[in-house]
Amino acid sequence: MKDMSKPVILTGLRANNDLTLGNYFGGLLPIVDMAKNKSDEYQINLFVPDLHSFTTPIDHSDLQKQIWNNLRLFVAAGLPLDNDGVHLYRQSYVSAHSELTWVLDCFTGTGEMSRMTEFKDKTAKIGDDRVSVGLFNYPILMASDILLYNATYVPVGDDQSQHLEFTRDIAERMNNKFGELFTVPKAVKEQHAFFGKDQGLRIKDLADPTKKMSKSDESGKGVIFLSEDPEFAAGKIMRAATDDLASINYDSQNQPGISNLIEILALTTGKTKEEIISEWQGKSSYGDFKQAVADAVRAFLTDFQAKLAQVSDEAISTKLETSEAAANDIADATLLRAQKAVGLR
Ligand code: TRP
Repeated sequence: MKDMSKPVILTGLRANNDLTLGNYFGGLLPIVDMAKNKSDEYQINLFVPDLHSFTTPIDHSDLQKQIWNNLRLFVAAGLPLDNDGVHLYRQSYVSAHSELTWVLDCFTGTGEMSRMTEFKDKTAKIGDDRVSVGLFNYPILMASDILLYNATYVPVGDDQSQHLEFTRDIAERMNNKFGELFTVPKAVKEQHAFFGKDQGLRIKDLADPTKKMSKSDESGKGVIFLSEDPEFAAGKIMRAATDDLASINYDSQNQPGISNLIEILALTTGKTKEEIISEWQGKSSYGDFKQAVADAVRAFLTDFQAKLAQVSDEAISTKLETSEAAANDIADATLLRAQKAVGLR
């Protein structure tokens, strides 16, 4: 990769996600902003972990479409394709990910993997014959994703911090056994200090604002998807749960619904929460307020969907070609070190 001396920030965004407003503002947009702001000082690696996307069963006739949709979402969210400091690649196009995974597999205990929360939860839910070996191995592939590029900083959600800790463990274990093979990424606490606690931004469910907006919401009333019809989405805002206090305040304890709408209005208009609060604080008409939020959500989705439709697949292909060549070079160099260490070369 371009500048070997720059520390590496790396993250993967799962391919088979129909992103919600919450995923967008809490996950995708911060990553894209980080890439834009930090690419002078850091090498930024963003990738689509397509090998991870069928550790649980999927409809394989959709996978290509989902991978491309993910790449387009990065670009529609503002990821610059002409910046050499940012690499954008698909995991399966860099074969070292699979190869290093095998090597690390052989230094990982089955007990250790059995204790991973995601694996335990799924096994408890659907039984161990229906949980794939791929899911069991998921954290090892993730460790390879990180270690191949000598990444120092890895922004991940809370649900992934256990996998990051495992990455540190396996890196240290290999380094102790074979000498300095891998860069050990920073611990979760230091990741938070580096990226800021705002990583934890969570948009809430519209129908039940005490829980997080989630794509698995069964009624569909509480969640807005980026691909959703803007008019339909505006209707969901109008029907969002609030309270009977008849006074607009940012108070997530006592007025979680109103507070969530304040958050959404700020994010979709690009204003700060403080600006929104000073505009609406103490007003009593929830109808007017919801109308303003609904208008903002409608406008945001209309604009985002137009941007998405304009994204050039050709420009993405060009970027992938350059990035994947660079990614293969650096990943192969790390893989070779590991192969030599274990005696394969
Ligand atoms: N497991 C991550 C998620 O579900 C995606 C991912 C795969 C990832 N490999 C990674 C994130 C490496 C960071 C680094 O969100």
